[in-house]
Amino acid sequence: MHIRLLTNLFLVFLLGSVSLKAQNPIWTEIAPGIWKSVIGVPDKFDLLKAAGVQPNINALTRLGKAAFPLQESSIAGTLADGKTYLRFPLVKGEQLYGFGLNFKTVQQRGKILLLHVDHYGGTDNGRTHAPVPFYISDQGYGVFVNSARYITVYAGTAVRRDSPEAPVPLDRNTDKKWSAQPYSDAVEMVVPTTGTEVFIFAGPTPLDVVRRFNLFNGGGCLPPRWGLGFTQRVKSLYTADQVIDEAKAFAEKGYPLDFIGLEPGWQSKSYPCTFEWDKTRFPDPAGFVKTMKAMGIRLNLWTNPYVAPESPIYSQIKPLTGSHTVWGGAVADLTLPEAQKIMVGQMSKDQVDIGVSGYKVDECDGYDRWLWPDVATFPSGNSAEQMRQTYGLLLQKMTSDIYHQQNKRTFGLVRGSNAGGSSFPYVIYNDYYSHEDFITALINSSFAGVLWTPEVRGSKTGEEWVRRMQTVCFSPMAMINAWSDGTKPWSFPEVEKEVKAIALLRMQLMPYFYSEFAKYHYEGTPPFRAMNLEAGFGSKQSSELKNANLSENPYLEAVNKEVKDQYMAGEYLLVAPLFKGQSERSVILPNGKWYDFYTGKYAGDGEVIKVSAGLDKIPVFVKDGGIVPMMPPMLRAPASREKFDLEIRYYGSLPGNYRLYDDDGETFNYENGDFSWRTMTVSSGKKGKLAGNVSLVEKGKPDNIGKVSWRFMSE
Ligand code: GAL
Repeated sequence: MHIRLLTNLFLVFLLGSVSLKAQNPIWTEIAPGIWKSVIGVPDKFDLLKAAGVQPNINALTRLGKAAFPLQESSIAGTLADGKTYLRFPLVKGEQLYGFGLNFKTVQQRGKILLLHVDHYGGTDNGRTHAPVPFYISDQGYGVFVNSARYITVYAGTAVRRDSPEAPVPLDRNTDKKWSAQPYSDAVEMVVPTTGTEVFIFAGPTPLDVVRRFNLFNGGGCLPPRWGLGFTQRVKSLYTADQVIDEAKAFAEKGYPLDFIGLEPGWQSKSYPCTFEWDKTRFPDPAGFVKTMKAMGIRLNLWTNPYVAPESPIYSQIKPLTGSHTVWGGAVADLTLPEAQKIMVGQMSKDQVDIGVSGYKVDECDGYDRWLWPDVATFPSGNSAEQMRQTYGLLLQKMTSDIYHQQNKRTFGLVRGSNAGGSSFPYVIYNDYYSHEDFITALINSSFAGVLWTPEVRGSKTGEEWVRRMQTVCFSPMAMINAWSDGTKPWSFPEVEKEVKAIALLRMQLMPYFYSEFAKYHYEGTPPFRAMNLEAGFGSKQSSELKNANLSENPYLEAVNKEVKDQYMAGEYLLVAPLFKGQSERSVILPNGKWYDFYTGKYAGDGEVIKVSAGLDKIPVFVKDGGIVPMMPPMLRAPASREKFDLEIRYYGSLPGNYRLYDDDGETFNYENGDFSWRTMTVSSGKKGKLAGNVSLVEKGKPDNIGKVSWRFMSE
């Protein structure tokens, strides 16, 4: 018998009866800077299998070699009671980020979490839309547990008797230093199954860790260019004519619009869903999609995955569904290729083939009272728990594959995801509506390999409306979700001008954001990310910190705290949103010079500044040497070969360098090399005069750039 099989059988024999001594896992380097260990006997089905992940080995190789970032002897994997127990070391002062899409906190050391796919319920307890079992240390390494189970995490809360750094017990009667939460020197996890794969990612920087994780997941998604334009989701029961009128109103009023989202009412029945058009509201779906296309507007369709008895696919799919229903709808076992085939058949024939551009896949996250319970069974034999942890991934893969096969890119929305989802062209959203927490989620999405939109739905005042619009325009998907109340960008006349300005600025920034998404795809760098992923930012500046009196150094004090209300948008922009009721705020500018995006004026260097901004502006700062390519404020994304002019802005005085990405913006031809990178540089020429240069495109490669003009903003 195979040796591995023998060992596994031996382990299975031991599990459940005897508890094993902690073992130091054996690590195998599977790509430069990534190591894998198999502990116990893992489930056959896991997160990476659900996502069908294909690591981008070439890009990982380009990131280069690195040494194993932890002491191997300090990592332990133990099997007992049918479960897997994991332990990873922590050093003093080390901070952790990640563990999925959290909404209130960025620093995760000291947390106890149960990673469980769910609709976010207002507490960072592990139940969230993407409870990715991956964390990043500010010491420059990351840990990922590839299991589709509800994993319990003790992120530096518990103390083992044999801990190398076990604190000395103190007497509460007499010692003021006594603490109910003594120092803990480990992250410990329980994976409630007989084994799991674990992966370790090297740095050296936290951003390198994130890059390796995203590239390991196949690289971030590259949306179509139009996906980065503006999108409006209309009221649930809108008819075809009302949708056409909505698109016309955008055009007449001069607001940008690339795609419209239809909510439940496009289907003949919803909750559960029929997956077919409602013939009263949409008598001629193909004609309707064509009319919209002629106006330059694409369509995205809401759906939840639960199949109604009235659906044309119900009887066919029923034998391939789980024991429990959701709102009376059948839950397809999407781990079965036959079940996927039936769904894909219906969606293709009825929707994708007539030109629908994508989906919003709702309700694949929670809540417990709605979804199938953990006692549900599925024909594949995968457990209800595993299905819950992966359903969003399975749906994203299934639907994005339809588009891939047709060589058309899509960009949609999803409410449930997990590790392995980085390459799917989907943005997470939810029903929660705290503006501040939406920004913290945007920050945390960069630690989880997912995208998040702080969608705008309604507001009590014009002020709140414009502040929300400003942040959604600096996020992966610039969207109003008016499914319930029918708000429009111009719903608050007192801020109509400001709202239009920010929507148009979003359009102007399209060449920049598109290039930043290309870096997400090819290099793994998240386009919207935490300040803690910026070089020189965060608690890593320990040597400085050791000697500093923090109360006398507001900058060091600030970077050491949780930073959850400002973030990086692409390589050079720092966004510091204002929230309702605020006319001023403090902004932490990392080390290095920073400039005001709008005026080019110097703003500060490694310091905390106070900024105020009227309703017409969201504070944005540009790093020294920053180059920001902008296009005219078009109302739609440029079409495939449509040329557009560039105004290239340059800030500060350091030598500038930017890589601009180009391809056809719509197909997957880039996978066969049909793309181009151009370098933009700024240097000072004779008499110190600044000069900008854009490199030429290789012959035969995509080139959408028309006239180029330069603006030296800080001169
Ligand atoms: C919710 C979803 C909303 C909207 C609504 C339609 O579940 O989060 O964005 O789509 O369903 O019924």
